[in-house]
Amino acid sequence: VKIAVLVSGRGSNLQAIIDSIEKGYIKNTAVNVVISNKADAYALERAGKHGISAVFLDPEGHDRAGYDREILNVLKQYDTDLLLLAGYFRILGSEIIGAYRHRVLNIHPSLLPAFKGLHAQKQAFEYGVKVAGCTVHFVDEGLDSGPIILQKCVPVFSGDTEEALTARILEQEHIIYPEAVRLFVEGKLKVEGRNVIALT
Ligand code: GRF
Repeated sequence: VKIAVLVSGRGSNLQAIIDSIEKGYIKNTAVNVVISNKADAYALERAGKHGISAVFLDPEGHDRAGYDREILNVLKQYDTDLLLLAGYFRILGSEIIGAYRHRVLNIHPSLLPAFKGLHAQKQAFEYGVKVAGCTVHFVDEGLDSGPIILQKCVPVFSGDTEEALTARILEQEHIIYPEAVRLFVEGKLKVEGRNVIALT
């Protein structure tokens, strides 16, 4: 399975996936290209360190559809089977989603459908929830709305801080994202409407 990863920043989830492949937890798979909308994304450096093509696509001078076509060109060039969003802070257009139906995954730092959009951990913390977490889901045309693959919850402690909660969630992100990719690669995910069945 050939993977492309879309990023905007730090890339710790990208790293978790690269590590899982290198350790043999995810088999018969390679990350072939990492694409960023930010020139200075640390994720691009991570890619370079592992001999993975790192591509900066400048959104400047493109409308959404035009930019998505740029991305699609790269995906085709690398013969991409699976597209992962990992801290990619833009909405993907319907052209890519249509072309890669049920082949685009995202990690979101909340228990969806709660706290969609940006700063989900902050939203959860300020709401005062006692349980928070993260979600891996298929990407559809909506915002953080596609069928859910895996979720993991973490406690919110009294006297907690948003930073500590964010770190606690991130630790689980680095576990469930590789796990979801492994299930996908092994052909174990079956989508039935909103329901994703993990065959074991
Ligand atoms: C993660 O919290 C992820 O859930 C969210 O953006 C953050 C990206 O972090 N979508 P990183 O770039 O993977 O370190």
